[in-house]
Amino acid sequence: MSSDTTIIRGSFLDFVEDPFYESESNSVRYVSDGLLVLENGKIRAFGTYESLQEQYSNSKIISYSDQLITPGLIDLHVHYPQTEMIAAYGEQLLQWLEKYTFPTEAKFKDAEYARKIASFFLDELLRNGTTTAVVLTTIFPQSVEVLFEEARKRQMRIIAGQVLMTRNAPDFLINDAQTAYLQTREHIKKWHGLERLLYAITPRFAITSIPEELALAGKLKAEFTDVYVHTHLAENVQEVQFTAELFPESKDYLNVYEQFGLVGERSIFAHCIQLDNSAFQRLSNAGSAIAFCPTSNLFLGSGLFKLNQAKSTQYPIKVGLATDVGGGTSLSLLQTMSDAYKIMQLQGKSLSVFQAFYLATLGAAKALSLEDKVGSFEVEKEADFVVWDLQATPVMKLRNPIAKSNNLEELAEKAFAMMILGDERAVKATYVAGNLTG
Ligand code: GUN
Ligand code: ZN
Repeated sequence: MSSDTTIIRGSFLDFVEDPFYESESNSVRYVSDGLLVLENGKIRAFGTYESLQEQYSNSKIISYSDQLITPGLIDLHVHYPQTEMIAAYGEQLLQWLEKYTFPTEAKFKDAEYARKIASFFLDELLRNGTTTAVVLTTIFPQSVEVLFEEARKRQMRIIAGQVLMTRNAPDFLINDAQTAYLQTREHIKKWHGLERLLYAITPRFAITSIPEELALAGKLKAEFTDVYVHTHLAENVQEVQFTAELFPESKDYLNVYEQFGLVGERSIFAHCIQLDNSAFQRLSNAGSAIAFCPTSNLFLGSGLFKLNQAKSTQYPIKVGLATDVGGGTSLSLLQTMSDAYKIMQLQGKSLSVFQAFYLATLGAAKALSLEDKVGSFEVEKEADFVVWDLQATPVMKLRNPIAKSNNLEELAEKAFAMMILGDERAVKATYVAGNLTG
């Protein structure tokens, strides 16, 4: 055994199949007394305490006896420069962008300031149990550099890219398409695949790009096929109408991105509320992913995402949960799950706690084509995980008087209470690449 081996004992929850399509007993893996063996940042072994204890009988074990351990959470869409303007009053999307968002993002021209917020943001992600995130920056290349540098220091899995904007924004937040193309190309060469960092070509949304810029984004995607495309799609009714005016030749909003070669695997579209059946089918056929942003969709009054349609058997789409801060109201994916549950209740459906955790772990890893690296406790995956305290607050303790679950049924009830009542206070510890953070 290498000197770099760490052994964790506790109750473990992860997924082996998708609980939207398989029964809980076939999709959820709950090991009430398990061992997770970490070596060089990866999972070396995972199983019941009983089956592994002999092999590791001479090792020092870190024990989290009354806690629940899950894979590190994945936030599929979040804006780090908006951390400081979370909870901005009174507007819906387009007015909210004008009034609050664009002036805030302008500050990120200053690299020192950007680094300060990037550091704060990444530390907050970890405090919330988020170890992988798909992050928007700003139009300023330095705002990308500092985020990657700070993520690298923390060994986090961060997928990010420079935001592309050439119109319909204030002058101080507009770039020249060709310049942004060259900057993006440099970023891809420097950052994509460096340790745990990955690049996403990031046109903000159709409204803020001239067609030439989307064409250049498509050109980059064709050149660097394993780089991501990350943008917003059909969030708000006014936005959809304006997009139709700007792109009269496109048959719908998704078709704008299709026409420029931006819809495929490793394309992540945030929101997707105002989409018709045809667009859902095309996203399914393309193998693209949707970032479901519940707190944002409620806060900005955008609408109710049709998760049941996205997870249909006929046209299944990869979906992950996302906080979308600052449109979203919390960096906590527990809070995000809680609002996802309410959004489904408003549509007459119930989102189970296992479905919710799936969307924030293995489901999101699949949405990113990273399921061989993160999202569950399979051996050889990267050792990112969260230790949860199901009794973190007085109300949670009253609701969950006994922390430990002996079976899936007990776990479903206790973990559901945590998902509705919890936030970062429920995070007892976050490990990234095998290391305890914080
Ligand atoms: N659409 C374009 N930009 C944004 C943004 O910053 N936040 C949200 N929620 N939607 C957007
Ligand atoms: Zn967003």
